[in-house]
Amino acid sequence: MLKENYTLLLGASGNLGGKVAHEFITRGIPVGLVARDTSRLRAFEGSANLLEGDFHDDGFLRDSLSRATGLFCTVPDTALAAPEASAARLIKLLQDSPVSHVVNISNATLKRGGNYTSLIRFEQELSKVSGIAVKHLRCANFFENLNWGINTPYLPHVKLPYISSYEIAHVAAVYLQHRSFEGVTVDELLGERDYSMAELAERVGVPYSQLPYSQENIHFYRPFNEGEYELVPRTEQNTTVPANPRFTLDYFIRHELRLV
Ligand SMILES: NC(=O)c1ccc[n+]([C@@H]2O[C@H](COP(=O)([O-])OP(=O)(O)OC[C@H]3O[C@@H](n4cnc5c(N)ncnc54)[C@H](OP(=O)(O)O)[C@@H]3O)[C@@H](O)[C@H]2O)c1
Repeated sequence: MLKENYTLLLGASGNLGGKVAHEFITRGIPVGLVARDTSRLRAFEGSANLLEGDFHDDGFLRDSLSRATGLFCTVPDTALAAPEASAARLIKLLQDSPVSHVVNISNATLKRGGNYTSLIRFEQELSKVSGIAVKHLRCANFFENLNWGINTPYLPHVKLPYISSYEIAHVAAVYLQHRSFEGVTVDELLGERDYSMAELAERVGVPYSQLPYSQENIHFYRPFNEGEYELVPRTEQNTTVPANPRFTLDYFIRHELRLV
């Protein structure tokens, strides 16, 4: 039976959303889990509302939000093609709903090639919502990105911040459980330290070999290699010391790294 007053989790069949779902279910808090195909949510059957639908479908989102009091928001890449329009649409749907608190997954990379990144543009527009508390989590690169391949077009020595998605999921779940945040606020989650690809490959125990750009990825990687990017500056406050062994790079390498 569909429970009311749940926290709606977008992207629940994905890497981060799935971990947030586990956090909620472990705490016994009602959740509505969204995927385009609920067979991808089988692990949660019986412990959550499984909601099949598409982020781009207004009717589906309106209906799912009508029973929600909180929202964990990850935006699909397709909606980031037009970040401002997607955020404006979400604001409209949220303002017709009982949702009081939103945790939105944003990005610690503020600018690339001189332009705001799409998650930051989405964040800026979503911040215009009124009467709903929004916590933006500006996240470093996820360790899980290493599963896309250790060898990338990044120059070997370019250092970027990395974090465990378990840690992000924990922070998001605590915020949505206690709902003590107000207004529109930003937290920066930069993980323990920055890593270069050469260092990450060494930790994994393989040599790093820089790949050539492709047509599809040159716009993403080249600005980093040429220093044309702006990151959230690392401070003591946004440097997160792993509070749990699962939040560490070692845990990721031992348990979750899939070398392709
Ligand atoms: N990777 C990083 O370094 C990094 C850094 C900062 C922020 N982020 C952000 O973190 C978020 C989560 O990352 P992740 O690793 O969990 O991604 P992921 O594993 O690829 O999961 C993506 C999720 O989005 C869902 N989705 C895709 N298109 C959808 C649509 N049209 N309608 C409804 N759901 C849709 C997928 O569900 P189905 O396909 O099952 O429907 C899946 O659950 C992303 O938004 C990303 O931009 C990532």
